[in-house]
Amino acid sequence: TNNDGSDKKKVLNVGTEATFAPFEFMDKGEMTGFDVDLLNALAKEAGYEVKMENTGWDAMFAGLQSEQLDIGIAGITMDEDRKKTYDFSSPYFESISMIVFKEGTDIQNAEDLKGKKVGVQNGTTGQFSAEAVVGKNSSDISKYETAALMFQALQSKNVEAVVTDIAVALEYEKNNPDSGVQTAVDENQFKSEYYGIAFPKGSELRDEFDQALVTLFENGKYEEIYKKWFNN
Ligand code: ARG
Repeated sequence: TNNDGSDKKKVLNVGTEATFAPFEFMDKGEMTGFDVDLLNALAKEAGYEVKMENTGWDAMFAGLQSEQLDIGIAGITMDEDRKKTYDFSSPYFESISMIVFKEGTDIQNAEDLKGKKVGVQNGTTGQFSAEAVVGKNSSDISKYETAALMFQALQSKNVEAVVTDIAVALEYEKNNPDSGVQTAVDENQFKSEYYGIAFPKGSELRDEFDQALVTLFENGKYEEIYKKWFNN
């Protein structure tokens, strides 16, 4: 029960960037995806209601810092920098950068990005991966606010390749069979990353959600959600 004696559950404000299929994206006006299902299951387990909003990537982080948001979930890689500013759950998904390019472009590995026009989502590990190859302030890198705009730039040939997370790259390839895109991985250059759910520093929710995550790993619910989005 709450302070007012009611049994209404507390509503948590959750931010995301919902152009990142299959993790979070809009389908007929509804937000859906792996992260959405996972967060809903976690909230249910932990005894909360959630209000998920497509805040966008930068505003999600800003909202966590100002504590206007309680949670951020957006396929967020837990890197050292972000860990300084936010608290994270345990890892819930493994990823690595992948290169997506139009058929006919000569790209086999990360080195081949050099001298090419590369698109990334601004402020993501895809950007950092690309920069590690072509240089941090390279004018060959174009940064887009959303993953959707990044992919549009590839289709309209404003860039020759994009660098994004592997599951998102493969989903894009699958959903756009006629677009003539190919993918390349380079495990010598790009390293494994792990997604975590982000909380404001010091948030008490972190432990509650982490406990719920352990439960979903153990009771098969995580696997069920995983299979729904990745085994078809
Ligand atoms: N995992 C990458 C990162 O944290 C990309 C995440 C982008 N997420 C999104 N919903 N657009 O930098």
